[in-house]
Order: sequence, then structure tokens, then C-alpha cells
Amino acid sequence: MKKPLLQVALDNLSLPDALKTLASVGEKVDIIEIGTILLLAEGKIAVKIIKDKYPNKIILADAKIADAGQIVSKMFFEVGAHLTTVICCADLPTVTGALEVAKTYQGDVQIELTGTWDFQQAAAWKAAGIEQVVYHRSRDAQAAGVGWGAADITKITKLCDMGFKVTITGGITEADLDLFKHLPIYIIIAGRSIRDAADPQQAAESFQKQLARKWENA
Ligand code: 5RP
Ligand code: MG
Repeated sequence: MKKPLLQVALDNLSLPDALKTLASVGEKVDIIEIGTILLLAEGKIAVKIIKDKYPNKIILADAKIADAGQIVSKMFFEVGAHLTTVICCADLPTVTGALEVAKTYQGDVQIELTGTWDFQQAAAWKAAGIEQVVYHRSRDAQAAGVGWGAADITKITKLCDMGFKVTITGGITEADLDLFKHLPIYIIIAGRSIRDAADPQQAAESFQKQLARKWENA
């Protein structure tokens, strides 16, 4: 199977801190995510500065857009994002509005599956032209003790079978990769497990090696 892309989530509290993380891992990952936390702290200028510093990387603004899909997504695409996210509870016109704007920038939109959603919605997103979803164990759910389980694998498998390009995220560590290695996962996101590692560069390199080893041999 094809190796999933590695995305580092920059949920840093400030741009200088995010740039410090990137100095060690920016060239080691496939996708750089300006995390929701960083976007709220610093705004779209963080996307522009990071895009200018890493012009060859895929840039994702994790905006988790809930409304005003066209206006909000344009803010990020016009400063260089290739991808942004719309939260799963958003109305369908918010999704299609963001997607229309994305296409004018040759970008794309991912639906963030955090919280409550169902496969009827997933079918509607697919019919509306959405190709990417992010299966997400929320940070707060994780902190409350929610682990990965068989129900997650069943839902992720169904999303893959529906033809979505699926990203997996939510406190992923290298030890979690075996849970997903039989599935054609498109992107794996690692935030804290890279940023907070004693050696973030080594952590990113090790993730890349494990993704290649586990998926290319599967
Ligand atoms: C939280 C997010 C994070 O970016 C995502 O969960 C990845 O970070 P981590 O690996 O630290 O959980 O979108 O809402
Ligand atoms: Mg994120």
C-alpha cells in the first residue's frame, strides 16, 4: 500500500514557537498544519509566513470552519494554504461554499470528523464533491480517557470504502500506527508526539520510517 503522508500539527501558542518547531521538522514532513490553536493565537499571517518559508511543502490551515464557508476559507487560500478544514456539524452550503473557493485556488477542503456526525452526512458530503475527511479523536476526549477502539476502525474502514481520502488524527503516537496499517490511510497527523518529543527531528524521521515500513510492506 501507498505510504501515508506525514503531517505535523503546529498547535503552538505563538508563531515564534511554531517556527522553532519547524526549524527542526519542517523539511522532514510532507504537510505542515497551521493548527487551530496557532490560527486563533496568531491569525492568517501565520499561514502566510510559514508558506513563504516552506514554499515546497503542502500547507494546511486547520480552521475547523463552522459558518461563512466562502469568506473564511478564502482568508487562508489567499495567503497560500492548499487545504483547510470544515467542521462536520456545518451546514452543507458552508461545505460547498468552502469547496468552491478551494477549487479556484487549486486547493481542497477536508471535513473534520470531531464530535457527532453520521454516514448519511458523509454520503451528502461525497455527493457534494468532498474527497477528504479527517477522522479525529478530539484532544479533550483523549484527555478524558477515550482510546482508539474497534468502533473507530469500523468507521474508518467504511469511510475508505466510500472512496474518501482519510486522515487520522488525535494524539497519534508511533505505537498507534499498527491499528491503522491495514487501511489505505492518506495522511497521518502527529502534533504533540513530534513537537513535544525530546528530539522533534528524530521523532519526525522515525514516524516517516515507520509509515514507510508498515504501509509499503502491507
Ligand atoms: C486538535 C487538532 C490537532 O491538530 C490534532 O489533534 C493533532 O494534534 P495531536 O497529535 O497533538 O493530537 O486539530 O483539535
Ligand atoms: Mg489540527
